[in-house]
Amino acid sequence: MGKIVKPYKDSDLGKKEQVAKMFDNISENYDGLNRIISLGIDVSWRKKVVKLVGENNPKQILDIATGTGDLAMMMAELNPDRIVGLDISAGMLEVGKQKIAKANLSNKIEMIVGDSENMPFDDNTFDAITVSFGVRNFENLDKGLTEINRVLKPNGKFVVLETSNPTKFPFKQGYKLYTNIVLPVIGKLFSKDKVAYSYLSESANHFPFGKAFNNILEKNGFSNTKDIPVTFGVASIYTATK
Ligand SMILES: C[S@@+](CC[C@H](N)C(=O)[O-])C[C@H]1O[C@@H](n2cnc3c(N)ncnc32)[C@H](O)[C@@H]1O
Repeated sequence: MGKIVKPYKDSDLGKKEQVAKMFDNISENYDGLNRIISLGIDVSWRKKVVKLVGENNPKQILDIATGTGDLAMMMAELNPDRIVGLDISAGMLEVGKQKIAKANLSNKIEMIVGDSENMPFDDNTFDAITVSFGVRNFENLDKGLTEINRVLKPNGKFVVLETSNPTKFPFKQGYKLYTNIVLPVIGKLFSKDKVAYSYLSESANHFPFGKAFNNILEKNGFSNTKDIPVTFGVASIYTATK
């Protein structure tokens, strides 16, 4: 993989600690800014993910890098026995827990602090695993993906939603302008953490997508990989099985 992009350039902390700190810092206004940044379109992408996950009628679902739990909550409609949301940022999970309690879903969704690269689950535990806008924040992508493969049941489904880069004119140019100029300005205006939104766009520009990401999934033990670009390719949904 290319360059490792970290949030705080003058910090000696590793990427994982910096990412946890950054999301703790922005947790309170994460949901609001998410909607603004994606112009509300992220909701439709998440719906698509839920539909793909539901095709296998999963009973045990794990949502990694669950953050404030939007996707975990939407997956409750699939009526599984259990959904676990896991994240390294206690601050993000706290916001999520409050939303879950408000929606009366506390008996269905468990939120736990944990690291995707070393998870407290037995081999072959989950029927489906999701990660939305999380994989590009992993410190060690390969380690995270092999660990996900380990806890997924054989034939279980893995669905990833992640930013990608449009490749065609004029979307490519428009997207570059948006992520490099508009997004950091919105972040600076509305977020308490001034560098967070520069990190988010910089990391989006450096993360592998499309076939390159499918290859990484395959290298880490997944089969039947497929990428589905959404909204001119500003994001992509990846599906794979173990
Ligand atoms: C952009 S947020 C996405 C949150 C949520 N999934 C969503 O779609 O809104 C990325 C999340 O990944 C989490 N994260 C980053 N590295 C992680 C890791 N190694 N293990 C677990 N969570 C991690 C961060 O703490 C953060 O909450």
